Amino acid sequence: MTDELRLRALDALTAARARTAVLTSCVDDGDLTAQHSPLMSPLVWDLAHIGNQEEQWLLRTVGRAEALRPDIDSIYDAFEHPRASRPTLPLLAPAEARTYASDVRGRVLDILEKTELEGSRLVDAGFAFGMIAQHEQQHDETMLITHQLRRGPAALTAPEPPDHPHEPLPAEVLVPGGPFTMGTSTEPWALDNERPAHRREVAAFWIDTVPVTCGAYQEFIADGGYEDPRWWAPAGWAQIREHGIGAPLFWRREGSGWVRRRFGVTEEVPAGEPVLHVSWYEADAYARWAGRRLPTEAEWEKAARHDPESDRSRRYPWGDADPGPAHANLGQRHLRPARAGAYPEGASPLGVRQLIGDVWEWTASDFLPYPGFAAFPYREYSEVFFGPEHKVLRGGAFGVDAVACRGTFRNWDLPVRRQIFSGFRTARDAEVRGDAKEPRGSSAGRGSSTPRGAGGSV
Ligand code: AVJ
Ligand code: FE
Repeated sequence: MTDELRLRALDALTAARARTAVLTSCVDDGDLTAQHSPLMSPLVWDLAHIGNQEEQWLLRTVGRAEALRPDIDSIYDAFEHPRASRPTLPLLAPAEARTYASDVRGRVLDILEKTELEGSRLVDAGFAFGMIAQHEQQHDETMLITHQLRRGPAALTAPEPPDHPHEPLPAEVLVPGGPFTMGTSTEPWALDNERPAHRREVAAFWIDTVPVTCGAYQEFIADGGYEDPRWWAPAGWAQIREHGIGAPLFWRREGSGWVRRRFGVTEEVPAGEPVLHVSWYEADAYARWAGRRLPTEAEWEKAARHDPESDRSRRYPWGDADPGPAHANLGQRHLRPARAGAYPEGASPLGVRQLIGDVWEWTASDFLPYPGFAAFPYREYSEVFFGPEHKVLRGGAFGVDAVACRGTFRNWDLPVRRQIFSGFRTARDAEVRGDAKEPRGSSAGRGSSTPRGAGGSV
């Protein structure tokens, strides 16, 4: 048992470091130390911060080894220094940062070999090692966002997502009402905010079969969605007015259509792909325009995990098996979401698709603790972010690694954020059907066999 866990931890740490190497070796030192956006750290900060977190948790805490570089803890403390200020810190230079991270790793691998992976909550089932592998992967996603913001020619390349057979899909799926088990108490590497498992009552609702597409989102823009305050939460309206926002981030009008910049390449916006780089306010406004709403976090998780036949919650929509390349678009295998309707093998028991991978999905919910939450192993991971100022995102994106993505995984961000790999799907109460208010788009796609906006191509 311990040997298998050790191997799992070793694999997770090794995979994370390989990805970190890709993200930090495809650009030169000037690019590593530059600040590509005030929203982000220089890449070289993420690199050394990855090493420093690993030093603090695995070397010092788990391994009880002597500190390697206690002098740099404060520079790489995310709470002491907001991202915008990080370029002014006396950061390790790229070569030093690489050497530091790899020195830490060498010592950590010795510790992993010697540590009994049971006997304390921190090491049981290799938790601390899994937590640090997830932390590195999360910063790899952060660095991927920095790459997307970076100007200039492409530095990263990847094959196109698979072209799964196109087939007719219902626009939405009915999830029957009733309780389900939300969160987890058994997933060994689940983080504190995913715990504990608890029963949650959810009324019947309809949810989009696939995420909202760029094509559907273009209809919202063409219909004057960004000029009509009726659709917008007041703070969202204020933000789009102040910043002149009229389309997803990275989109630009060209002729009668739209192009987007994606990892250094400018291309036509693909109508059938899930929309990306929208804020919570934009997702919320679109849903209102469509006569719908964002799903709550509990609705999202019920759609993703609940098996109505057994009344069990699965680890993933497709079952308990770890994600493979046929299930979901994860792990930076591709540098874009797959078209809406892809990944038939990743469907939930009720037939909802692409809940895992492709795009993070904004939910209606504030980031709050589950009943019985206990911060572990540190308050700064989740607890200090609980509250109405952060909205929950679910499901992971193409730039999220499987180790940091589960049916229970919770991400959060400010509702104005749009540089992240964020999209959404919409929902509605099951009682609405037959009421006076027909959801908008019912003539265009609702009730037909293809998701709205995806045309006949799904
Ligand atoms: C869970 C993605 C919101 O990047 O701010 C990284 C993850 N926490 N280092 C973030 C995290 C500490 C966190 N998110
Ligand atoms: Fe961090």
